[in-house]
Amino acid sequence: MFYATNEHHGLRHNPFNALIVPRPIGWISSQDAAGRVNLAPYSFFNGVAYHPPQVMFSATGPHSQGGDKDSLANIRETGEFVVNLATWELREQMNLTAAPAPRGTDEFEVAGLTKAPARLVAPPRVAESPVHLECKLVEQVELLTDETGDRNIVTFGHVVGIHIDERIIKDGVIDIHAMNPISRLGGKDYARVTEVFAMTRPSWPVEG
Ligand SMILES: Cc1cc2nc3c(=O)[nH]c(=O)nc-3n(C[C@H](O)[C@H](O)[C@H](O)COP(=O)(O)O)c2cc1C
Repeated sequence: MFYATNEHHGLRHNPFNALIVPRPIGWISSQDAAGRVNLAPYSFFNGVAYHPPQVMFSATGPHSQGGDKDSLANIRETGEFVVNLATWELREQMNLTAAPAPRGTDEFEVAGLTKAPARLVAPPRVAESPVHLECKLVEQVELLTDETGDRNIVTFGHVVGIHIDERIIKDGVIDIHAMNPISRLGGKDYARVTEVFAMTRPSWPVEG
């Protein structure tokens, strides 16, 4: 099948996010200028540069539902955030923090999570998570909108500090099974990493 995206796809659900999979989940902690803490998951999330390391996440949805998402507004206000790794063990807590809670709600409390201080930024880390990326705002970019009126704003962050739980480091490399990340698929689905394979990138000219 083919469909032009300004026409209806004809399927039961919009297939767009089911086609871009699996998506890592950036579990973003931030706080406003008054120090009120926020935590929410974003799967339009990824690393986008090594030197200096940078990440992005996209807040997207109807503007009518209360304007900018809290993470977006907080980061615009204070210029800082932390990306916490969402793991299999923390899946229920991660999901709880996605509830559309009123601005100012502390989702650490809603989900029963522990705050650990960050070193280089003000927002707290999720203590239960094994990886934290401390980030400073680079830029927020407003993307296209259409007749739906959705707003789509990407936040880019410079990763200024990284915490890694020693538990997930084995022989000097990250042990994916000890890390146990979860990722987003389409609909209500998520995925775990249960099988890993390796490939060596070819040199040029490619042999045989
Ligand atoms: C796994 C998961 C991934 C999500 N990814 C996104 C996303 O990429 N962009 C987005 O705008 N909302 C996403 N959401 C919804 C937000 O988490 C939700 O709107 C939340 O209330 C936003 O919180 P905030 O206003 O405190 O930032 C996701 C929800 C879940 C459960």
